[in-house]
Order: sequence, then structure tokens, then C-alpha cells
Amino acid sequence: MEKGVKGKFITFEGAEGSGKSTQAQMVCKYLESLNKPVQHIREPGGVKISESIRRILLNVNNTRMTDECETLLYMAARGQLVGEVILPELKKGTIVLSDRYLDSTIVYQGYGNGVDVSTIETIGAFATKGLMPDFTFIFDIDAEKGLSRTGRTKDRIELRSLNYHKKVRKGYLELAKAYPERIVLIEVDKSKEEIFEIVREHINKILGL
Ligand code: TMP
Repeated sequence: MEKGVKGKFITFEGAEGSGKSTQAQMVCKYLESLNKPVQHIREPGGVKISESIRRILLNVNNTRMTDECETLLYMAARGQLVGEVILPELKKGTIVLSDRYLDSTIVYQGYGNGVDVSTIETIGAFATKGLMPDFTFIFDIDAEKGLSRTGRTKDRIELRSLNYHKKVRKGYLELAKAYPERIVLIEVDKSKEEIFEIVREHINKILGL
């Protein structure tokens, strides 16, 4: 793990249609209203090189992409974002909010595609220089319900079968059980305002507000 990190790194995870991006935006606005140094980014993407990789990953015409290529491209996008933005910002003391991170690769490529999870962890440690989130929210939603909440134009991953998305959800539930000190599981069964009240309580505790 890199030395000299002063900020906090908080990640927002969840299956398709879980509302994680909305919650990350609400947290960002909340912290801005308190004049806290905060940066909100998304994965894959967040910087020019990683946004280019995102377009390759989500392009529905890339039907022949292998599991190995897909896993490494997600890691490549992450490696660039960590080096270009996340680590420099954390060193300055910024609170970095990321819409997805390494847990996404573990559940989508690991649980979903069947790529060996310990291999993902090894490549992940290299790509991220060992940087793990201080805290992670996983927004849990039934796979069918979540998919029905996504837009009509589906990307390459959203187009996968219901069974694939059920495996993704199972992966998230197992991660939450395995790392209770880092991960909190939030049920998506309330309004976004009610969910935000729960999220805000955690944020206040993590940041000592
Ligand atoms: P988004 O819809 O949250 O912007 O994420 C883009 C898609 O990429 C989403 O379907 C989840 C998928 N994804 C992976 O399969 N592996 C990863 O490591 C990440 C970050 C995202």
C-alpha cells in the first residue's frame, strides 16, 4: 500500500440499476456543501485514457472479446485512474468517491465470467499499487428488478443473461460477508432520499463529521 495517503477513499458498488451512482452524487453534493475537498469519479473511465478503454469494453460490437482481454482492460483503465487521479488526490487529502472499483472486477469477471478470483486479486494489486478503499457501499437489488431499471439501450455487459447478473449479485453478497469491516450492504428497497439518510450516517462516521 502506498505511503503518504491523507484523504479517504470510498467506493460505491452494486449491480445494474442499483442506484449507486445517484447515491455517490448525493454524497458528493453533501460533502461539497460542507466545503470538504471531494472528487467523484467513475470506473471504467474518469480520465481520458480510461474513458477510451471504457468505450472498447462497453461497445456491443466487440462480441469476440475474451475473458482475459476483458479482465485486463478493466484493470488497465483502473491502473491509469489510480496513477493519474486517485493516488495524487488522496495524497493531497481529498475524499475520493469512486463509482465502482476492484470489487466490480471480482464480481463481474470473477463470479460472472468465471475468471479465477485470486488471479484477479493478484493483477488488481499490481494495477492499483495495492490501494484498497477505506470504505465500500454495496447497493443490493434483485437482478431482474435492477436490470429493468436500466435504460433501453443496453451496453455489452448489461446485455448479458439474467443468470449472469444473478451471479454478479451473489458475488457482491459474498464479498459483503467476507469483508464486514470494509463493506456495508444497503438494501435498495426505499426511496433514494431514505437510502441517502442511511448512507450519510455512515459517511459522517467514516469522516468523523
Ligand atoms: P457502469 O454501468 O456502472 O458505468 O459500469 C459499466 C459496466 O462495466 C457495468 O455493466 C459493470 C461493468 N464492469 C465490469 O464488468 N467490471 C469492472 O471491473 C467494472 C469497473 C465495471
